[in-house]
Amino acid sequence: MYAIPLGVQGAELGPLEPWQAGEFLAHMDRGREYIGRYVPLPEVTADLASARAWLQRFADKAAADTGRLWGIRQDGRLVGGVLFRVFDTESGVCEAGCWLEPSAAGNGLVTRACEVIVDWAVEQRSMHRVEWHVDPANTPSINVARRLGMTREARLREVGVHRGERRDVEIWAVLAREWRARRRTATGGE
Ligand SMILES: CC(C)(COP(=O)(O)OP(=O)(O)OC[C@H]1O[C@@H](n2cnc3c(N)ncnc32)[C@H](O)[C@@H]1OP(=O)(O)O)[C@@H](O)C(=O)NCCC(=O)NCCS
Repeated sequence: MYAIPLGVQGAELGPLEPWQAGEFLAHMDRGREYIGRYVPLPEVTADLASARAWLQRFADKAAADTGRLWGIRQDGRLVGGVLFRVFDTESGVCEAGCWLEPSAAGNGLVTRACEVIVDWAVEQRSMHRVEWHVDPANTPSINVARRLGMTREARLREVGVHRGERRDVEIWAVLAREWRARRRTATGGE
């Protein structure tokens, strides 16, 4: 099966599909509280059936080319993932997202995984704009957006509800030309 090395010892980006629901649920159980502070993912993947259904939603999106999901594995163990919740080829706009279980945080895994998928979206799929929607209190996620060269564009007041509480959402984004310029700088102008 394919896997893309993430430049950290033993860390790879690869498929995360409905048949892997058991592996996904075990991973989610290790990180449920940490992952759920700002995102509903643990709540919508509470047991094997709902975990499989969530993975199937992304498999369906992939088949329709309207979304994507990948797993991050460290030494063969699923520790997180990255996704395109929205992937609109007509408008050239997509929205990326991510999560990690706590033991895998602090090593740059998500930043590196996002670099791979944003590069794919921009260079191979001609996406014009990659968005990042984040709770303003979610500093680690905002730091990922910053590391990806995104700009904070807006704050939508009380647009979301999380754990019964109205929450603001910040919109961050990087445009294709900004992404390419950043990549050129990173590779010394190659
Ligand atoms: C958002 C989330 C994935 C960020 O995790 P993270 O580990 O901070 O992000 P990365 O994997 O990119 O790692 C960055 C950290 O590794 C460090 N790092 C080490 N080597 C690095 C490298 N080569 N490149 C980038 N960062 C590196 C960074 O300094 C940073 O650590 P710091 O925050 O202590 O400064 C995590 O907090 C999470 O899963 N939260 C719950 C789910 C969630 O909120 N998802 C986002 C929804 S918008």
